[in-house]
Amino acid sequence: MALFDRNQKQRSSLFSTATIALFVALCLVGFWMVSSPSPEAVPSATATVADINKAAAEVVVKDKEEDSSIDATNNFKQDSTNVVAEATTAATEAEKPTVDVKGGDADGEKPASKNQSFDDENGRTEGGELVKPETAETDGAAAAAAAVAASQGKSVEDAVTDSKEQVVTDTKESVGQDASAEKTSGDTKESLAVSQEDTAAGDAKETSSKKQTFDDENGKMEGVDMVKDDGNKTFISDDVVSVKPIADDTTSVTTTTTDKTESVVPTETATATTLEETTKTSDNEEQAQPRDEEQKLLPEALPNGQAELLTERAAQNGSFTTQAAESTNEQKKRAERKKKQKKNKKAAGKAADPAEAASPSYVWKLCNTSTGEDYIPCLDNEAAIRKLKTDKHYEHRERHCPAEPPTCLVPAPSSYRDPIRWPHSRDKIWYHNVPHTKLADYKGHQNWVKLSGEHLTFPGGGTQFKTGGALHYIDLIQQALPEVAWGRRSRVVLDVGCGVASFGGYLFDRGALAMSFAPKDEHEAQVQFALERGIPAISAVMGTKRLPFPSNVFDVVHCARCRVPWHIDGGKLLLELNRLLRPGGLFVWSATPVYQKLPEDVEIWDDMVKLTTAMCWEIVAKTKDTIDAVGLVIFRKPVNNRCYESRQQDEQPPLCEPSDDPNAAWNISLRACMHRVPTDASVRGSRWPEKWPARAEKVPYWLNSTQVGVYGKPAPEDFASDYQHWKKVVRNSYLAGMGIDWNTVRNVMDMRAVYGGLAAALRDMDVWVMNTVNIDSPDTLPVIYERGLFGIYHDWCESFSTYPRSYDLLHADHLFSKLKARCKVLPVIVEVDRILRPNGKLIVRDDKETVDEIVEVVRSMHWEVRMTVSKRREAMLCARKTMWRPTEVVESATR
Ligand SMILES: *[C@@H]1O[C@H](CO)[C@@H](O)[C@H](O)[C@H]1NC(C)=O
Ligand SMILES: *[C@@H]1O[C@H](CO)[C@@H](O)[C@H](O)[C@H]1NC(C)=O
Ligand SMILES: *[C@@H]1O[C@H](CO)[C@@H](O)[C@H](O)[C@H]1NC(C)=O
Ligand SMILES: *[C@@H]1O[C@H](CO)[C@@H](O)[C@H](O)[C@H]1NC(C)=O
Ligand SMILES: *[C@@H]1O[C@H](CO)[C@@H](O)[C@H](O)[C@H]1NC(C)=O
Ligand SMILES: *[C@@H]1O[C@H](CO)[C@@H](O)[C@H](O)[C@H]1NC(C)=O
Repeated sequence: MALFDRNQKQRSSLFSTATIALFVALCLVGFWMVSSPSPEAVPSATATVADINKAAAEVVVKDKEEDSSIDATNNFKQDSTNVVAEATTAATEAEKPTVDVKGGDADGEKPASKNQSFDDENGRTEGGELVKPETAETDGAAAAAAAVAASQGKSVEDAVTDSKEQVVTDTKESVGQDASAEKTSGDTKESLAVSQEDTAAGDAKETSSKKQTFDDENGKMEGVDMVKDDGNKTFISDDVVSVKPIADDTTSVTTTTTDKTESVVPTETATATTLEETTKTSDNEEQAQPRDEEQKLLPEALPNGQAELLTERAAQNGSFTTQAAESTNEQKKRAERKKKQKKNKKAAGKAADPAEAASPSYVWKLCNTSTGEDYIPCLDNEAAIRKLKTDKHYEHRERHCPAEPPTCLVPAPSSYRDPIRWPHSRDKIWYHNVPHTKLADYKGHQNWVKLSGEHLTFPGGGTQFKTGGALHYIDLIQQALPEVAWGRRSRVVLDVGCGVASFGGYLFDRGALAMSFAPKDEHEAQVQFALERGIPAISAVMGTKRLPFPSNVFDVVHCARCRVPWHIDGGKLLLELNRLLRPGGLFVWSATPVYQKLPEDVEIWDDMVKLTTAMCWEIVAKTKDTIDAVGLVIFRKPVNNRCYESRQQDEQPPLCEPSDDPNAAWNISLRACMHRVPTDASVRGSRWPEKWPARAEKVPYWLNSTQVGVYGKPAPEDFASDYQHWKKVVRNSYLAGMGIDWNTVRNVMDMRAVYGGLAAALRDMDVWVMNTVNIDSPDTLPVIYERGLFGIYHDWCESFSTYPRSYDLLHADHLFSKLKARCKVLPVIVEVDRILRPNGKLIVRDDKETVDEIVEVVRSMHWEVRMTVSKRREAMLCARKTMWRPTEVVESATR
C-alpha cells in the first residue's frame, strides 16, 4: 500500500507540472483572445493572467494535500477540474474583489443591458451586462473564457443590439458546449488543450456574437450580449423558438413560455410567499441601482424562461398538504379523542429570531461532547435522555433535539483520509475514519466486520449471510418468491436493524434501493460504517414514534435478525411496518424463530404467526438455505380490505379509526392499529407502481390534472417539467462542471427534494440520493417513493439523524431562504458542515441575499468557494468543505 502511495505521489506531482504548463497555455490563449482583433480592448487582461497563475499555484498546493485516493487517474481528473474551477475564480476575482463568478460584474458600467437569464439547464447563463464578441465556448477553455469575460465586462460599453443574432449565437453555443463537455470528460490534458484551441479558432470566426453565457458546467462565464428586453415577452419567446434548431432547446423554450404564463398566476392569486416576492421585486425595480441591476427584473420578463425554472419556480403548496400539517392534525385529533385539551403543537421548529445576529465575523470552536467526533445532536442529547422516565421502548435512542441547535463544529478523527471510493468501499473502509473496533470485536465471529491493517473489511456482510454472502442471500429471497423481482417489481426496500447494511449495499447490484436504519446503540457506529461504505442508512429506532416516512411506500421491508420484538405490545412495531408497506408489499423476515426449533424460537414463531394472521398478512414463501443454514419467511400485506372486513368485531389488533391519518409521521406515537387499504383507483396505494426503471419517469397514476403541483401547474405537468429541469441541470451543469469530480461522490443528500427530480436525474450514476422533504414543505415524499426513489421527512431547523462526515454532496435548492422564516440559518450551515465529509461539496441555489450569507459563513469555516453565480435575485453556490477545524474547544460541554 505504501509503495503504491508513493507511486501515486510521484505521478500526481508530474501531473501538477503538467497542470502548470496547461495553465500557462490557457493563459496565453486567453491573453491572445483578449488582445486579438476585437475592438473592445481588454485593460484588465494582465491582471487576469496573473490571477490565473496564482490559481495554478494554488492548484499545486492543493495537489500536495491531495487525497489518499486509490486511483491516480481519478486524481488527475480531479485536478484538472480543479484547475478550471480555480481559474474561473481567479478570473472572477480579477473583476471584483468578492467571489462572484459573473460576467455580470460590469453592472456598474452598463446598467441598460441587464436582462440576463441564468440557464444552467443548458449549461449557461445568458445576458447580463456583458456585451462582447463571442469568446470561448468550449469547456476546456473555461479559464480563458472567464478571463475574457471578466475583462470584457469591464471594457464593453454597449453591444446590446440585435436579439436575433444573439439567439443564433446561443444556439451555436449550446452545441459547442455539449461537444466540449464530452471532450473534457476525456480528462487528459491534451483534450483540454485541444478544445482550447478549437475555441480560439471558433472565436475568431464568431466575433459578432453578443451573448454572455455563464456555463456552470465549468464554472465559466462567457461574454455574450443579451437580448434587449422591451418587455415584449411574446416577441422574445417566439424569437427564441423560431431560431433554435435543436430539439432539446425547443422543448425547453416551450416549457419556458408556458412557465411565463403560469408564473404569473401564483403571483396574482397571491399566496403569501409569492406576494412577498413580488413586492420585493418591484421594490428593487424602483430603486434600479445599477449595481443591483440584475436583481430588479421580474422573472416572467426573462428572455429565457429556463432561468425561471431555476429560480423558485413559484413554489407553492399546490394540492399538497405538508407533513407538519398532517402530523399536527393527527395529534390534534388524538388529543380530542382523548378529550384532553392538550396544547396544540406547532410545527417542530422554533420561531425565527427576528434579530438574527448578522455578525460578520464568526468565531468557530469545536464541540465539547462525550461523543466527540461522532456527535449527533438529536441522538446524543444526554441531558434530555437522563430526564426520560423510561427507556423500555428505546426512548433513549429516539430523537431528542437540543433546544438550541449547536453552533460548534464537530472535530474530525486525527488521521482522517478521503474515503475509499465506491464500489471498493463496500468491502473495506479506512479504519481511522471510523475508528471503532467494538463492532469488530463483538460481531467478528459473525463475519460482519474485521480490522485488517489500516482497513476495516466487511467479508460476509451479515449475520444471516456469513458464508454465501449478501448477494447469495438476496437471490435466495427471489428464488423463494420469484414475484420479488428485485430491481423490477421490488425497488424500494426498508431494511430494519440493518447492521453494517451489507444487504442494502448489495441490493444495488440487483437494481434495488434500501433505506437501512439501525439505532445508535451498543453496536457502535453500525450506521456510520454503512455510510462510510457508501451505503444509505440512517440512525433510527423502532421505539415509541412512527418512522419518518409516509404510509404505503415500501415495496419490501426486510429484517434479518433485527432483534425487534415484533409480537409484543399488541404488535405495535410490526403494525408500523404494516403502515409503511405498500398494499401487496412484502415483509421478509429471517430470524432464528423461522428455522430453529429451540423452545424460545418456537414460542416466538407461534406468536408471530398468530399476529400476522390477525393482520391479514399471508405467508407467501418460507425457505431454508443450505449454504448459510438460515431460513426466511415472506409475508404479504393485503391488497384489499376483504380480510379486514371479515374479522371479528373486537379482534386484535383493531383497525384504526378512519380519521387516523396514516401519512402523519412526524413525532406521532405508534398505535397498535391497522389502516384500511386504499381501494379507490385514483388514490395512492390502490395499485402497484410501474416497474423499475420506468417508474422513475412515469407520472404517478394518482396525480391528476385537477391537482395543482408545487410549481403551480397541474400536478402531472408539474412533475414532468420538474424532471426535465433537473435532467438538464444535471447533464449540462452538475456533471460536467463546477469542479466536482463525481468519482468522489457517492452519498448525496437533496435537502429539499420536492419530486425527487434531482435524484431521478442522477439515477444512472453510481450515487444514491437521500431525498429530504421538509415537514413544512408540500408533502411530496410519496411521489418520490412512487417513482422508485427514497427519502425522509425532516425538519432542517433540527439536526439530521446521521453521523458526522457521512455525505459527499449536499444540495439545497431554495431551502435556506425558506427556513429563515422558522429558524436561524447559521446552525443549519453548521449542521451541513457536520454532515459533509471533508472535501465534500455543497450546492446551494437560492436568492442572492441568502447565498451571500452562506458564502460568508462557509468562508469563515475555511471552505473553498468554488464558484458563485448570480442573476437578478437568484444565485448559486458551489463550495467545498476542507479539512480545516478550529483549534479552540467550547469551554463547557455542548448541550
Ligand atoms: C428588462 O425587462 C424588464 C421587464 O420586461 C423591462 O422593463 C426592462 O426595460 C428590461 N431591461 C432591459 C435593459 O432591457
Ligand atoms: C410585441 O409583440 C407584438 C406581437 O409580436 C408586436 O405586434 C408588438 O409590436 C410588440 N411590441 C413591442 C413593443 O415590441
Ligand atoms: C402551505 O401550507 C402551510 C401549512 O400547511 C401554510 O402554513 C403555508 O402558508 C402554505 N403556503 C402556501 C404558499 O400556501
Ligand atoms: C413531540 O410530541 C410530544 C407530545 O406528543 C411533545 O411533548 C414533544 O415536544 C414533541 N416533540 C417535538 C420535537 O415536537
Ligand atoms: C384527482 O385526484 C384527486 C385527489 O386525489 C381526487 O379527489 C379526484 O377524484 C381525482 N380526479 C380524477 C378525475 O381522477
Ligand atoms: C469540556 O467541557 C467540560 C465540562 O464542561 C470541561 O470541564 C472541559 O474543560 C471542556 N473541555 C475543554 C477542552 O474546554
